[in-house]
Amino acid sequence: MLVIKSLGPDERSKGVEKSYLMANKKAVFNVFRFDPDKEKEPHYDTFSVEVKVKMSVLEALFEILEKQDNTLAFRFSCRGAICGSCAMFISGKYRLACETLVEKLDPRGIEVAPLPHLRILKDLAVDMEPFYRKFDRIMPFFQEGKQKVEREYIQAIRERKEIDEITDCILCAACESACPLTWTSDYLGPAVLTKAYRFVADSREGATKERLSLVDGEDGVWRCHTIFNCVEACPKRINQTRAIEKLRKGLFARKLGFK
Ligand code: F3S
Ligand code: FES
Repeated sequence: MLVIKSLGPDERSKGVEKSYLMANKKAVFNVFRFDPDKEKEPHYDTFSVEVKVKMSVLEALFEILEKQDNTLAFRFSCRGAICGSCAMFISGKYRLACETLVEKLDPRGIEVAPLPHLRILKDLAVDMEPFYRKFDRIMPFFQEGKQKVEREYIQAIRERKEIDEITDCILCAACESACPLTWTSDYLGPAVLTKAYRFVADSREGATKERLSLVDGEDGVWRCHTIFNCVEACPKRINQTRAIEKLRKGLFARKLGFK
């Protein structure tokens, strides 16, 4: 028997997710399958999984792999929402499989699909290479300032606050997958631009000017149409659009001679 706990209007407006209490402890998983080396078209396979208390979608995928179909391919590493490997499209939303509880999803049909718009290697595993390669274009590492320091660079709490949120990025590529401009162009994309801003906004960074030049141009910040899909998709709730806007402001200020 399925018991659905409904939420009051207050909880809904706060974005609290519905909780499904599964008295029968079974959930149906519709899992995307595709082996481009052997198949022409993708399809979905259906699996019934016995749900344990606080079971994550990643754990359910392991149940399937170990007990029902050992050919299922998916990616994971940390199992603690910090490596970004297990980002998938689960029941209509971008989510990390390792932190998504099965009890939060409707057990009558949990759809598990790979990140849309990225090349599929097999089943739920997508090709992350093109995404990682984009980071090379923005110098994704600190540049020493002209001012030499004897020991460490000191950063005030106020300065650190500016980059607190964006250092949470785990490079899961959910925002990259969600942004329509990355589907058809060579756009740097929300994750890469947010990483660029992470350094531009860091008070210890020594190459702000050069880094701003790297995000200027048609494949940089100016291609963003403020669609906000990236913000919606981010499992870490980072505001990539804000970071892109701040980069634009930095470029304007430079062009107007303020920086
Ligand atoms: Fe894309 Fe996000 Fe801009 S979805 S268009 S990077 S606001
Ligand atoms: Fe690392 Fe999910 S396995 S984020």
